[in-house]
Amino acid sequence: MNGDIWQEPRSRHSLRLYNPPQLYKSHKVLHIMSQTHFGYQQVPESQKVKKVAEVFHSVAAKYDVMNDFMSAGLHRLWKAFTIAQAGIRPGFRVLDIAAGTGDLTAAFAKRAGSSGEVWHTDINESMLRVGRDRMINKGLLLPTLICDAEKLPFPDNYFDRVSVAFGLRNMTHKELALAEMRRVLKPGGKLLVLEFSKVAEPLQKPYDLYSFKVLPWLGKQIADDADSYRYLAESIRMHPDQETLKAMMQDAGLERVEYFNLTAGVAALHVGVKL
Ligand SMILES: C[S@@+](CC[C@H](N)C(=O)[O-])C[C@H]1O[C@@H](n2cnc3c(N)ncnc32)[C@H](O)[C@@H]1O
Repeated sequence: MNGDIWQEPRSRHSLRLYNPPQLYKSHKVLHIMSQTHFGYQQVPESQKVKKVAEVFHSVAAKYDVMNDFMSAGLHRLWKAFTIAQAGIRPGFRVLDIAAGTGDLTAAFAKRAGSSGEVWHTDINESMLRVGRDRMINKGLLLPTLICDAEKLPFPDNYFDRVSVAFGLRNMTHKELALAEMRRVLKPGGKLLVLEFSKVAEPLQKPYDLYSFKVLPWLGKQIADDADSYRYLAESIRMHPDQETLKAMMQDAGLERVEYFNLTAGVAALHVGVKL
């Protein structure tokens, strides 16, 4: 269910509570009443942000090791492809959103060089702390900032590249986040969205088996957290497929949007340009 669906109050009491007609149109009331999905559960929008935060606080310390285990290292190839497509040059300004432990951020920073400006940002402090420490250990000192992709604290037309890897799926208002990403891009700048996507038909059954049986089991063994990895599997199924995400990026005003399926659509990289 999306954010602008109004649900009728169920009892006379709640009707009275929300009766003034102008309140029906109030953004605040609609926001309070809106439901969204958290994996397969329907939850109030305000709850989703909290639940997503709990997932990433819980997995932060084991996030990198789990990534390697559960994707058998494939996430490194998908990120390498993303880095190549980004075409970062010395001096570029780059914003990595939902950057977490900073795999892309670090690679972008190396390419943008000392004349560039690369931001390591995420809504979750635990993920950012792990990423910041990893980068310091690699000799990289970058601006690290807690920020919500739906309200970016950057001026219009500022960045040459904006990226979001495996983050969009967790956001409550994806349209808003995409519009913000476009806003902060310079004309001619590129948005790169790397995300899990819809896997090719013949692989669906084994992929489901892996996602719903093996992933939570791995999560339990490695991170002592089966629930977060069950959420991962569910959130992937709830995320828009390749064509839908392409249309969403176009609706957000991005142009020349194209996508590349990676590993038969297990992941996809969408690229769009702000003209
Ligand atoms: C699966 S991790 C991805 C980390 C990193 N980009 C990578 O590819 O390894 C997803 C990240 O999205 C972040 N996230 C979720 N909602 C967000 C939002 N509204 N704004 C910014 N980051 C968000 C989470 O905190 C989490 O760190």
